[in-house]
Order: sequence, then structure tokens, then C-alpha cells
Amino acid sequence: MEITVVDHPLAQSRLTILRDERTNNAGFRAALADLGAMLIYEASRDLPVEEFDVKTPITVADGHRLEDPPIIVPVIRAGLGMIDPALSMIPDAQVGFIGLARNEETHEPVPYLEALPEDLSGRNVFLVDPMLATGGSLLHALKLLVARGADNITAVCIISAQAGVDALENSGLPVRLVTTVVDPNLNEDAYIVPGLGDAGDRLYGPRNIDL
Ligand code: PRP
Ligand code: URA
Repeated sequence: MEITVVDHPLAQSRLTILRDERTNNAGFRAALADLGAMLIYEASRDLPVEEFDVKTPITVADGHRLEDPPIIVPVIRAGLGMIDPALSMIPDAQVGFIGLARNEETHEPVPYLEALPEDLSGRNVFLVDPMLATGGSLLHALKLLVARGADNITAVCIISAQAGVDALENSGLPVRLVTTVVDPNLNEDAYIVPGLGDAGDRLYGPRNIDL
């Protein structure tokens, strides 16, 4: 599996703000939005472009635009924090939604929403979720996308645990990963170590879904 680790100093400084337990909800959302935009920028590097002539006030120049803007799919909740930055980078992208919540005892993802285009064949799909821990949630989401014909998927995650990276790699699914860091461990509650805690809670406050 192709993995891109964005080790740019601005990305790493935003990551540090996200990791810092003193960062409040507003600061966390802002740093996540900045870092999300940087990762989407990197994830878009090899998207096909078409060329056209653009008339400047002086003369005609070569113009470029995305041939086929990707579809952005956030894994709700925490992935919601990456939609606005993704759309600020790619304003004409389509957006689909997958809602999953990990069961705190089994650590398995429990699905509660799927709102996706019927046919994803031939499309570039950016699956965005700040956290890749055991990999259970991302694998579930990937299977939903593949079932709709997607075969060109980029997972965009702020922090990836080695266990989640291994799970993606071993799945054989058509996915590449763009991330800011690969953290070494998971704790007994399947939280990433050192990680940043619960991304959904730090964005929006504690959730209350009956699983
Ligand atoms: C978090 C995160 C991922 C998942 C990662 O969501 O946003 O979706 O956990 O864990 P995994 O790799 O072990 O599956 P969570 O289920 O906590 O829901 P939330 O975003 O609503 O808080
Ligand atoms: N989900 C999170 O939000 N954080 C983790 O560390 C693991 C799963």
C-alpha cells in the first residue's frame, strides 16, 4: 500500500496543537481544519488535470483544472471536521457520508448512516477520518465504497496507528493512505498512543448514541 506521510513543519505544528490536551474545542477544530486542508492538498497531487486556454488581461495563458473532481466521503462524526477544508481546496467536489461509531467494549464499528452515490466506479474517492486506530471503521467504510464500484480510494487520516496501517495493508483493498504521522501503539481501550484522545469529542463534545 502506498503511504504518504506529510512531514511539513506547518503540518507537524498543527498536529502538536491537536495532540495538546490543553487545546479547547474551538482551537482543535481550527487546527484540524488547517491540517485537513494540507492533507487534501497532498492527496490531490496526482489527480488528472485538463488544460485549457485562459485569457488574462494581457494575453492567453495555459490553464489547468481537475478533469474529474474527487468525491469526498467523511466518516461521521470526526470526519465532518475535514469536509470544509476539503471543499475549500476542491470546491466542486461531491460529498457522500458514512456514519459509524465504535462500540466502546468491542471496539467494532456500528454503522448508523450511509448516504453515497449509487455508482462510484471510475471515481477518485477521498475517504476522510482524522483517526485510524484498529482500522475497523475505515475497513468497514472501504468495503461500502468498493461495493459501489470504487477502485481508486485515498484514505486521508490525521493520525494513523501502526495497527490500522497494517489492517489496511493486509486487506488487499484498493486504497492508499495520506497521513501526518504513524503512531506506534494502541492502549487497552483501542485509543491511539500517543494520539490525541477522542477526536469526535474534542471537535464536538461527548456523543450520546445508543449502540
Ligand atoms: C473514531 C474515529 C474513527 C474511529 C477509529 O470514531 O473518528 O472513525 O474512531 O477507530 P478504529 O480504527 O479503531 O475503528 P468514533 O467511533 O469514536 O466515533 P465519533 O467520530 O462519532 O466520535
Ligand atoms: N478514535 C479516536 O477518536 N481516537 C483514538 O485514539 C482511537 C479511535
